[in-house]
Amino acid sequence: MIDKTMYVSDSIKWIGVNDRAIDLFEGQYVVPNGMAYNSYVIIDEKIAVMDTVDQNFTEEWLKNLDDALSGRMPDYLVVQHMEPDHSANVAVFMEKYPEAVVVASMGAFSMMKNFFGTDFAPRKMVVKEGSELNLGGRTLTFVTAPMVHWPEVIVTYDSKDKVLFSADGFGKFGTVDADEDWDCEARRYYIGIVGKFGTQVQALLKKASGLEINKICPLHGPVLCDDLGHYINKYDIWSSYRVEDEGVTIAYSSVYGHTKTVALKLAEALEKSGTKVEAFDLARDDQAEAVECAFRYSKLVLATTTYNGSIFPVMNTFIHALKEHNFQNRKVAFIENGTWAPVAMKVMKELLADCKNLTFADNNVTVKGALNESSEAQLMALAEEFKA
Ligand code: FEO
Repeated sequence: MIDKTMYVSDSIKWIGVNDRAIDLFEGQYVVPNGMAYNSYVIIDEKIAVMDTVDQNFTEEWLKNLDDALSGRMPDYLVVQHMEPDHSANVAVFMEKYPEAVVVASMGAFSMMKNFFGTDFAPRKMVVKEGSELNLGGRTLTFVTAPMVHWPEVIVTYDSKDKVLFSADGFGKFGTVDADEDWDCEARRYYIGIVGKFGTQVQALLKKASGLEINKICPLHGPVLCDDLGHYINKYDIWSSYRVEDEGVTIAYSSVYGHTKTVALKLAEALEKSGTKVEAFDLARDDQAEAVECAFRYSKLVLATTTYNGSIFPVMNTFIHALKEHNFQNRKVAFIENGTWAPVAMKVMKELLADCKNLTFADNNVTVKGALNESSEAQLMALAEEFKA
């Protein structure tokens, strides 16, 4: 269950912001329902603020913090992750609250020097695996999460309220109140931003499995509560590159529409057989969504034209994105189009050569310009091989 109200506990308040004006998150991801930058404050005998927010929301965040403090002063700022969507206001905070101490990993303090020209010594507390911070009525325990998805990352466990502050882990695109499926936008976020680092996420899941957790407070998206097994299971599947759902992703590029016609004919044949299919025009649709589906489903079909003795540029970009994110454990088929000397299949297969545990289909398709009787027979053979 997700909690869009962002209620965590009587002692832990959400003081984050919703970004409804953003065009591209991290300069590349479309976010039709905006983005949330979460920050929390833990009110105890001592007060700890968990992370800051993006630079465009300084005033809103400071006001949220001020409201939550009810006249008290914060003692600590815990910086779990130094990517600027969370750390942009560290210097602002430290200037506004001159008695506060910043708590972070050694790696985070090095990054603070890079970003702010200072690591705030002597007002700094370096934490490492298992370090604790006593707030009076509760103790926070820090767990390192290197390369999930930056090297300095820590997550934080509050054993009193049994809350895991999970940094970018379990985050998603969209504002906290976005009316959308968690799995879909969390998966697109995970595969795109964290997906390369499956081994490191597995290590973090192993550490987290020893904790009794009632709520997960990520740095993006809603607070997670109740059926936490659902979210943890998704993370386990995604980070181990296992197939999540049986189905076929068809990713195509087309110059004049013939390759598109072939790709959509395959989609139609598969759907008729009751197979789940998602098809993407790589030049026009969101490539991050296409990458997400390639990781979600069991089978992938790549369809493109031969172009400048190679493949169409958007397909090149797509295959590189798959490789960068550790694409593996899937079955792949190729559709190539080439009017006089088709080489696209050979090029695509070579590009995927170093991906682990890919199985290639027996039935691939070569089209010379437009579909004909021979290539249509190949296409139907592929549909037969890839149907559910
Ligand atoms: Fe949400 Fe890696 O910053």
